[in-house]
Amino acid sequence: MAKVRTSYVCRECGNVQPKWMGKCPDCGAWDALERFVEREAADGPAPGALDLGGALGAGPGEAPAPGGSPAGGTRAPGSRRAVPIAEVKPLDVPRIPSGIDEFDRVLGGGIVPGSVTLLGGDPGIGKSTLLLQAAAALAGRGRRVLYATSEESAAQVKLRADRLDGSADAARGANLLLLAEPNLAVIAEEARRTRPDLLVLDSIQLTFRGDVDAPPGSLQQLRRCCLDLVSIAKTSGTAVAMVGHVTKDGDLAGPKLLEHLVDVVLAFEGDRHHAYRVVRAVKNRFGSTQEVGLFEMTGAGLAQVEEATLASDAGGAGGPSGTRPTRPGSVFAPVLAGSRVLLAEVQALTATGFLGNAKRRASGLDAGRLAMLIAVLEKHGGLRLGDQDIYASAVGGMRIAEPAADLAIALAVAGAFHDRGAGASTAAIGEISLSGELRSVRQLDLRVQAAVRRGAQLLLVPRAQAEAARAALQGASVGSCAHALVSVVAAAGIRDALDHLA
Ligand code: TYD
Ligand code: MG
Repeated sequence: MAKVRTSYVCRECGNVQPKWMGKCPDCGAWDALERFVEREAADGPAPGALDLGGALGAGPGEAPAPGGSPAGGTRAPGSRRAVPIAEVKPLDVPRIPSGIDEFDRVLGGGIVPGSVTLLGGDPGIGKSTLLLQAAAALAGRGRRVLYATSEESAAQVKLRADRLDGSADAARGANLLLLAEPNLAVIAEEARRTRPDLLVLDSIQLTFRGDVDAPPGSLQQLRRCCLDLVSIAKTSGTAVAMVGHVTKDGDLAGPKLLEHLVDVVLAFEGDRHHAYRVVRAVKNRFGSTQEVGLFEMTGAGLAQVEEATLASDAGGAGGPSGTRPTRPGSVFAPVLAGSRVLLAEVQALTATGFLGNAKRRASGLDAGRLAMLIAVLEKHGGLRLGDQDIYASAVGGMRIAEPAADLAIALAVAGAFHDRGAGASTAAIGEISLSGELRSVRQLDLRVQAAVRRGAQLLLVPRAQAEAARAALQGASVGSCAHALVSVVAAAGIRDALDHLA
């Protein structure tokens, strides 16, 4: 006998309550608890699993194998025995590279058959474009892709495909199947019939199951549809990639619920009004979450960016070039992005505001970190910023979360305040402590090398790492004479560093 359990789940944070309440006790959101009904069979399949009648290779009642392993198919009592970890065969994760290197890089080398990937991001950031490009690239390599869209018509998708570089060629055309359908039963049926290598679903919020009495996008629908898709992926080996909407705070809509169910969660970040887009892995059961994929939105879809200098356009093609004049309030910082280093430009502006009511705005930077750096500049740098409105941003729509960029942010603010620049070819590296000292950063050699490659001529580093920076410089310039022009300047604290503003 199936047992019915009713609970109330917060739409904002995913907190589960046994009773309805006006305010979520966990996140404090008002009127956010939604009724959630779950039917529990005594020892049957996972709740909500779509009954595919064995059509996708699984017998009725057979639960999805965890991680796609065919060995873990049945759940008959007594059939499972714990085994010593030494005897467990390592899982050889096969991967299908899409051919879009930046996308494969975040996935850990390619799409894993039978995996479920969720791609989240702001509206208009390029989620549909990225998945369509990946689908077209896979189709071009002879893989079959079923692109199911519940948001657009097939003609709209075709229109987009035509804009994308060369996706309209015949080989791709035959392997890339379009289905404009929000009903999951129809999509599952088509997936069964066409047996694609990749099933793209755009988007999970607008997909629904007819037998669930709730509107598309509700918790019940999301959970049931997502479980069905996981089941399809695990039983048939088809990789599933779906688009997920985000809330106004940037979290994936449908709380943490979806993130727990899928194998890979990718976040598409960047400013819609800037060209650069970053794809970041938030969760990845098959690879690192450190890597990022870099793209640029162009007239013909997303172009890959290999090594970015996220600099403003003023003064020509990006990067700190020696010919550019000193610009107060603008400093370069080499920041880590997975195994790569990006040279990001930090800009700041100060303007006289009202004492006690001064504005502080950070874009692409952590607002709390900016406030702390302003306090350190006041206390240990001798700046009077109490009545200054301060705006600081990472140029190019990039988000910088690393403390290693502290020095660059502080110098940008101080430079803007004093109307003195750090020199257009200066890159600043260092974390700032509350006592105003410069702390060492990790991966200094990579940062130094990247900064020099992009044309930096003066490196401002923490005193403790001056020697390491010089050594890295030597290493970077074997076979080139670039290092002869580069100087390393060490600073012990923020006061020392401020002396280098011209
Ligand atoms: P889209 O992929 O539809 O975004 P999402 O699915 O995340 O909502 O498109 C993003 C934006 O990119 C859209 O406003 C139009 C623009 N765009 C280009 O600039 N060039 C292109 O080649 C394409 C296809 C879209
Ligand atoms: Mg879209």
